[in-house]
Amino acid sequence: MSEARLFGTWPGEIVVCDTTADLYSRAAEIFVSTFAEAVERRGRATVALSGGGTPRGLYTLLAEPQWREKIEWNRLQVFWGDERFVPPTEQESNFRLANETLLSRVPIPAENVHRFRTESGTAAEVAAAYEREIRSTIPNQEIPAFDLNLLGIGTDAHTASLFPFSPALREENRLVISHYVEQLQAERLTFTVSLINHSRLTLFLVAGPEKAAILAEVLTGKHDSHRLPAQLVRPVGGRLVWLVDAAAGRRIWHISRAE
Ligand code: 6PG
Repeated sequence: MSEARLFGTWPGEIVVCDTTADLYSRAAEIFVSTFAEAVERRGRATVALSGGGTPRGLYTLLAEPQWREKIEWNRLQVFWGDERFVPPTEQESNFRLANETLLSRVPIPAENVHRFRTESGTAAEVAAAYEREIRSTIPNQEIPAFDLNLLGIGTDAHTASLFPFSPALREENRLVISHYVEQLQAERLTFTVSLINHSRLTLFLVAGPEKAAILAEVLTGKHDSHRLPAQLVRPVGGRLVWLVDAAAGRRIWHISRAE
């Protein structure tokens, strides 16, 4: 698997993998190494999973024996960086995606799986409860730091459920919010920028030719975070890695190939 590391002025490290399969293998390596480092330093690891379609390949891979056996699942606390305001059994539930492809296939204790309890109240109540659950699971930090925060990017440059021109982009006090997304005509639940930016490692997974234009604009275009929310992801002290396949990375210049 060859990798191309990109160097430029944009935030973070950009790794271009030849194929989508290479991207998932690389993502699994990063997941496992981040887990191992967190367990060595703090005795456990905390991860916020992303939704949508891209991470399916990673979750499926992590459930396979050669990767599954590298994780002590009882030491992993799993959250979601965003969720649709739907029951956990719905097709569009981010919890359902990760549960079907990964969590139901590995020996992770039920109490380590922290899903948005979308059935337990209004969207605002669910978001507030989730923030409390994060704070009680990752205590004694003004803004809890996840060891790994997985993110995707939409073709409109949204990430998590932070959409262009949304008031949610300017939230500075809360860590988790609910908001009605005009573009979707639907309620969403999401980490705020502040919580995302306190992760120790933020890993974007970007695959497919349909993401090439927006990725180039986000990374090399003018800074316009209101229109391009993914530009708001600038970790405070943590690492930022953009893991992209060649199709998504084809419009980024200055590739310096590292074989
Ligand atoms: C969600 C995700 C969202 C996703 C992007 C990309 O709940 O949909 O958290 O931010 O990462 O929409 O989705 P794809 O991977 O399906 O392109």
